[in-house]
Amino acid sequence: MNENLDFFTQAKNLKSEFSQASQSLDKNQLDRAIEELRIAFLGRKGHVQSLFENLKSVPKEERPEAGKAVNELRGYLESEIEKLKKTALQSQLGKLLDKKPLDVSLPTEPIPGAIHPVNLMKNVILKEFRRLGFTVYDGPEVDLDFYNFSALNFPDDHPARDMQDTFFVNADKPTVLRTHTSNIQIHAMLNEKPPLRIVAPGRTFRCDSDLTHTPMFHQIEAFVVDRNISFAHMKGVIDQFLKAVYGNDLKTRLRPSFFPFVEPGAEVDMQCVSCRGKGCRICSQTGWLEIGGCGMIHPNVFESVGYDSEEFTGFAFGFGIDRMAMLKFGLNDLRTLFEGNSKFLAQFPINN
Ligand code: PHE
Repeated sequence: MNENLDFFTQAKNLKSEFSQASQSLDKNQLDRAIEELRIAFLGRKGHVQSLFENLKSVPKEERPEAGKAVNELRGYLESEIEKLKKTALQSQLGKLLDKKPLDVSLPTEPIPGAIHPVNLMKNVILKEFRRLGFTVYDGPEVDLDFYNFSALNFPDDHPARDMQDTFFVNADKPTVLRTHTSNIQIHAMLNEKPPLRIVAPGRTFRCDSDLTHTPMFHQIEAFVVDRNISFAHMKGVIDQFLKAVYGNDLKTRLRPSFFPFVEPGAEVDMQCVSCRGKGCRICSQTGWLEIGGCGMIHPNVFESVGYDSEEFTGFAFGFGIDRMAMLKFGLNDLRTLFEGNSKFLAQFPINN
């Protein structure tokens, strides 16, 4: 600022300097440029402040007038700065609004990759059960012996409890890695009141490993509890669900079998998906493939969860999801499912 000029001219010059500077602000960093402008003119060491200091040099009689002028200038500059800030904000908002709008309800872009065949299979199965009015339930993979065995009517000396089959986690307060998804029957029945229509997929564990067995595998449990539920209902649901997965011409059959938690119990066979009953290598020339177990829920199971076994009946079945996936996708070694080989896994579709 040129101190030799008369005070009022200095004030006037400052005003036009400000208006020039405010027109050449850096548009890319507008907020910062405005703040710098404010500091240069209105800051503690800014132009307006030094004008105030120059008041001393103004002849006494002109001082009130000069003081008024500089106060007005300060007020004017302050309001100009506010205006600049407001316009900057509006143009930033404007830019945001001009951008392509984000519609959060749109489906996502396809994700590269594949869905694991076990999950593909599980999704197909669950879809069918939901259609039949079942509720999907979840339960613990590490569970007390009570839920996995005792409450399911397994006698203390039942071979399924044997070390060679079961992974024991804690021998003091018997805890196991669940050997089947049937533990969910007990959890669900203790938590809910009948009638129940429940389906529960999950990981299961047994000490076993060969072409057709892995220590970790997947099962899907389904059960219904209500008044007047019969063996025929069970047959109908099993048949319907396997047809939904493998095609309407697929035949199923039941063979009498034993599981402590059902009476009567049966093994479920379906016609070989490969030869459709003629006999081939996959079904060891029998034409049939074993796919799971089933039966009418044992009265002792109802008693152990406090259900009246005179009033309620029900059925349950448990299927191996991995085995179903192998048959659906034509895999010949169960272990390939769990080796994490990305070339193998990438062959499966992302959608189903
Ligand atoms: N939990 C049995 C198994 O793992 C299968 C099954 C479930 C049998 C329900 C009968 C009823 O072998």
